Amino acid sequence: MPADDGSIDSDIEAYLAAHERKTLLRFITCGSVDDGKSTLIGRFLYESKLVFEDQLAALEADSKTLGTQGGELDFALLVDGLQAEREQGITIDVAYRFFSTPRRTFIVADTPGHEQYTRNMVTGASTAQLAVVLVDARKGVLTQTRRHTYLVALLGIRHLVLAVNKLDLVGYSREVFEEIESQYRRFAAEVGVDDVVCIPLSALRGDNITAPSPNTPWYEGPTLIEHLETVPVDDERQAKPFRMPVQWVNRPDPEFRGFSGLIVSGVIHPGDPVRILPSGRTSVVSRIVTFDGDLPEASAGQSVTLTLAEEIDVSRGDVIAAADSAPALADQFEAHVIWMADTEMLPGRPYLMKIGTLTVGLVIGPPKYRINVDTLEHAAAKTLTLNEIGVCNVSVDRPIPFDPYRVNRDMGGFIVIDRLSNETVGAGLLHFALRRAHNIHWQAIEVNKAAHARLKGQEPTVVWFTGLSGAGKSTIANIVERKLHEMGRHTYLLDGDNVRHGLNRDLGFTDADRVENIRRVAEVAALMVDAGLIVLVSFISPFRTERAMARERVAEGEFLEVYVDTPLAVAEARDHKGLYAKARRGELPNFTGIDSPYEPPESPELRLDTTRLSPEEAADRVIAALQERGRLG
Ligand code: ADX
Repeated sequence: MPADDGSIDSDIEAYLAAHERKTLLRFITCGSVDDGKSTLIGRFLYESKLVFEDQLAALEADSKTLGTQGGELDFALLVDGLQAEREQGITIDVAYRFFSTPRRTFIVADTPGHEQYTRNMVTGASTAQLAVVLVDARKGVLTQTRRHTYLVALLGIRHLVLAVNKLDLVGYSREVFEEIESQYRRFAAEVGVDDVVCIPLSALRGDNITAPSPNTPWYEGPTLIEHLETVPVDDERQAKPFRMPVQWVNRPDPEFRGFSGLIVSGVIHPGDPVRILPSGRTSVVSRIVTFDGDLPEASAGQSVTLTLAEEIDVSRGDVIAAADSAPALADQFEAHVIWMADTEMLPGRPYLMKIGTLTVGLVIGPPKYRINVDTLEHAAAKTLTLNEIGVCNVSVDRPIPFDPYRVNRDMGGFIVIDRLSNETVGAGLLHFALRRAHNIHWQAIEVNKAAHARLKGQEPTVVWFTGLSGAGKSTIANIVERKLHEMGRHTYLLDGDNVRHGLNRDLGFTDADRVENIRRVAEVAALMVDAGLIVLVSFISPFRTERAMARERVAEGEFLEVYVDTPLAVAEARDHKGLYAKARRGELPNFTGIDSPYEPPESPELRLDTTRLSPEEAADRVIAALQERGRLG
């Protein structure tokens, strides 16, 4: 219909303007396999007419051949079909879908319900404002339902919709619905979400999706779309203090220096004072540059380039923040950790933390507790396995700017990356900085490493022997120490068996304990290097990551990795301690090389083939290597 002035042009403009003014709701759907999520999302797309004619034709054809609905339209096929995943039968990745009604536009993150895909749920939920949790009316609230609800609440979603689906299959029973509703409300209250709307529906038949269903006359609440269109969800990010993690430093010519990134919270104008973290330097924004010209204002969600009044050093990973309410800096925190890898979390292992645009070294402490998502009870745990959630202290290798996750999702949420495989193995939410980090300072010591080394007339060094049990590490290390001693060098030999009688007597042979074993001995070795010693370390040290950590604890050139290379068969044939025989009899679980892994070094400074070298000869090679590198003074 033409607008007041009768011009079609202005009508289109008005339509576009109305579209632009429409608010955006980001939500996530979660449920177990077969709860009907795909059907529901297919229904959204269909109802909002975003399904194209050709897809509809294909859907009708597919519904007849592949559908589970006896020839009726199978909306799940629509969604699954869009992803080309229909043969697989389950949805396996986060898919973002877009649809629009006259009142709002929606972005829905469709995440799979399969147990091992917590990772996708975390991804989808971290940007969502609302979650639609589906349950099958025949099954009610399941462990999965509770897990998903706990997770979305933990990730900061404050609005929940419980979609009690497939109500047609329980004869639209009010009792069934109300029982599920009361059960669910109790759980949601326990996880701290009070905006919960429960809707009886059938995604397949369309009950209570867009129009109130005649099949549920007892239900007086909103339909699903009506609720999604009206639930008040302001973009809270605008109201928060300004934060922009710097993605890159934009320097096309000597005249221009801009800092580009996505504004994660707040609003900024030219003239606003800002503080750069971690340096703490302050300046004033001079321009907000975008591809389409300068802006008088920019806010959360926009990617911009800022220029500053002063020439100050800003690097990728820094945060530009409102000067009067800048984030804190810290390097130790309490955090929720959500584990997403098949391999367990190893407390003490060096991982990487990606937070905003920054990647830093991360060590996760042993869990204070693990959360039983079914009962919300805290359980004791030494580690976290796939899909487990716990609270741990974490530390990073330098102070980083942060806000608690509950205050600012972007400034307090992080992912955990494995250093070797580069895979995402977990996610975390920072609670607060540990105060102890503030209260412990570095004490300046006058007699330092150089002074110790000078007096001893040698270059302090760690000689790290690694290899299987029985490979000959201790035998060789022992000869090396004797020879160095005879040469008047100052040494100490840290031997696995011996250290395990004292400092590490509380540790066994699980992966987690071995990580801690090596972490401690690496610390001790680093202290001894500081004392000016040549330290010989003889530990199986089966994992590359921990050997790399030990290397990083000392300076370049101070670490010599010696791989005592003895094939398993040879070590086992020697079996001086009779341990291989025990392990083969099943009396010694987690034995290296039998049922616990050994990761050989990829590029050790020295490899000793003990099938060709006698222990004396091997020791001479080590001495020669030290001499070549000028370590013996
Ligand atoms: S490490 O893997 O954590 O580096 P470490 O070198 O301290 O091991 O201790 C290895 C010694 O402990 C072996 O030489 C062996 O005598 C003894 N031992 C006892 N149980 C095991 C086991 N399950 N696996 C390996 N070594 C074991």
